[in-house]
Amino acid sequence: MSYANSKIPDSAQGGVHEHLPRLVRRHASAPFRKPFAEFSLRAIDAALAGWDGRAGLILDAGCGVAHSTIAIARAHPDAWVIGVDQSADRLERRKPYPASLMPDNMVLVRADLVDFWRLLSARGLRLARHYILYPNPWPKIGHLGRRWHGHPVFPTIPELGGLLELRSNWQVYVEEFAAALGVLLGRQPSWQVFDGSEGLTPFERKYRDSGQTLYRLSVELSDITLDGVRSAVHASGQCHRESHQ
Ligand SMILES: C[S@@+](CC[C@H](N)C(=O)[O-])C[C@H]1O[C@@H](n2cnc3c(N)ncnc32)[C@H](O)[C@@H]1O
Repeated sequence: MSYANSKIPDSAQGGVHEHLPRLVRRHASAPFRKPFAEFSLRAIDAALAGWDGRAGLILDAGCGVAHSTIAIARAHPDAWVIGVDQSADRLERRKPYPASLMPDNMVLVRADLVDFWRLLSARGLRLARHYILYPNPWPKIGHLGRRWHGHPVFPTIPELGGLLELRSNWQVYVEEFAAALGVLLGRQPSWQVFDGSEGLTPFERKYRDSGQTLYRLSVELSDITLDGVRSAVHASGQCHRESHQ
């Protein structure tokens, strides 16, 4: 495929999956106990080794070749910025930046986000900012459970707090992410179309240069507590049951 010829995810699904609210409530009401992978346990230690314990923490979740991590670290020199990706190959491809030009307030680690998010939460850490930029869309209808908002780890994401930003070239993904957060928070965040002129990531540049519409959801989660999430989920379960009576 040539560079500026990328396709919008092709899906038979045109809107929010009908099972999403039920799935999110189920995940929020049952603890997710998957054992941590050894490499993720090592990764969280490596990610925090250079942190002074005071700087705001920023996570670039699924950072790929980490161009965004580098740009974010430059834009927030007082923060400690962690780029996480499961692909060692992508992390090593962070061209065109030689090691000497890397900001010193960032670190890149290879980890499974399913573990990494829960490990941050288990250590009682809260984020100042949290970026999820162009996650794999998993566009088939049956792939709902592979999208982050359909995954059992999803309730951990708002628990980490901070200013959360999701970007995608698939409108359904952003709509579903907003709807799933709505179940957990009791209020649904808004999302917008944006022009991608910033070109924060290689995927953003590729989609923009292919003339695609880009979508962005940004929501402040600093005031979110675990108890708040639990009571919103409880209330949304009540509404759901009542609407089916
Ligand atoms: C579509 S790419 C986007 C990369 C980058 N954010 C960008 O916009 O250029 C999605 C990235 O998420 C990473 N990823 C997917 N699932 C992951 C997981 N469970 N843990 C860590 N990284 C994951 C992939 O390796 C890939 O680099």
